[in-house]
Amino acid sequence: MLTCSGTCGYALEYADFMDLSKLGAFVTKSITREERAGNEAARIVEVRAGMLNAIGLANVGLDRFLEEKVPLLRKMPCPVIVNVAGHSVEDYTATCGAMNDLECVAGVELNVSCPNVKDGLTFGTHAGQLKELTRQVKKVLPKKPLIVKLSPNVEDITVMARAAVEGGADALSLVNTFTAMAIDIWKQRPRLANVTGGLSGPAIKPIALQLVSRVYRSVAKGAGVPIIGMGGIQYWQDAVEFMLAGATAVAVGTALFVDPNTPMAICEGLVQYLAKMKVERVSELVGALRMPGDEAVAG
Ligand SMILES: Cc1cc2nc3c(=O)[nH]c(=O)nc-3n(C[C@H](O)[C@H](O)[C@H](O)COP(=O)(O)O)c2cc1C
Repeated sequence: MLTCSGTCGYALEYADFMDLSKLGAFVTKSITREERAGNEAARIVEVRAGMLNAIGLANVGLDRFLEEKVPLLRKMPCPVIVNVAGHSVEDYTATCGAMNDLECVAGVELNVSCPNVKDGLTFGTHAGQLKELTRQVKKVLPKKPLIVKLSPNVEDITVMARAAVEGGADALSLVNTFTAMAIDIWKQRPRLANVTGGLSGPAIKPIALQLVSRVYRSVAKGAGVPIIGMGGIQYWQDAVEFMLAGATAVAVGTALFVDPNTPMAICEGLVQYLAKMKVERVSELVGALRMPGDEAVAG
C-alpha cells in the first residue's frame, strides 16, 4: 500500500495522523529542479465524487529538497519513493541523478504529465519523448528502480506504457489525474484560476481500473513489469479490484483527505478478504481477473 504523490507532503507531515510504518512506501510530492510557487488560488475545488486540482507543481525545488527534506526522509519508518517532474530532459536528469546515491530513497517515480518547454508537448502524451526521457533518466539512476507514472489524458495509454517499458522503466504507475473543469455559475467563471485541473477521487476509479486492466494485459504482464494502480481507491474492495486487474501494488491519494487512515483500513480489509477467499498470498490476486474468452484461449 502506497500513498499517491502530492497528497501527503514530502515526508513526515502526516506522521501524527497515520502510522507511516504500515505503508509499503511513501511517495513524495513532485520535486522539480527549480523551486516553483505553483498556480494562483483557487488551486483545489471539490466536485461531485472527487476533486479538481491545479497546484502547478508548487514545490521547494531540488536544492531545498536536498537540504531541508532529505534529513526528514531519513527519519521515515517506511521506504520512500521520490516523485520527480520537469520541463526538459535535463531538468529530469539533474533531479533524478541527485537521488541515485541517497540511501533514504528507495526509488524514483517520474511525473510525466508536464509540458516540455522546447515544444510544449507533454512528455506523457508523446510516445517518442516518453521513451527517450525514460532512457535518459535510467542512465543517471542506475542504482534505483524507476517508476514511470502514466497520464490518462491520451488516446491509447498502452502506447505510452510500451514506450516507458522500452525506455527501461522498472515499473509503471497509473493513473495520474484526468483533465477536467468546473464552472462557478454565479460568477460565470472557471472555479480554478488555471481554468482546468486534474480530476481525482471516486469519480475516476472505474476508468482508472479499465486502464490498469488494459496496460496489464497488453504490455506489463508480457514484459514482467509491475504496475502500481491508483485512481479513486478508497475501500479495500477497490484495492482488490485493481489487483485482480493486474496491479501488483495500489496507492491512495484523494481518499487521504477524507481519512488519513485509509491505507491501513484497506490493509485490514484485504487480510480478511484473503482469509475468506482462502488465498494465502496477496500476490495471487495480481491479474487473477478472468475475462470472457480466457478459458477458451488457455484450453
Ligand atoms: C491535491 C493533489 C495533488 C497532486 N499532486 C501530484 C504531484 O505533485 N505529482 C504527481 O505525480 N501526481 C500528483 N497528483 C495525482 C495523484 O498522485 C494521483 O495520481 C491521482 O490523484 C489519482 O489518485 P486518487 O484518485 O487516489 O487521488 C495529485 C493529486 C491531488 C489530488
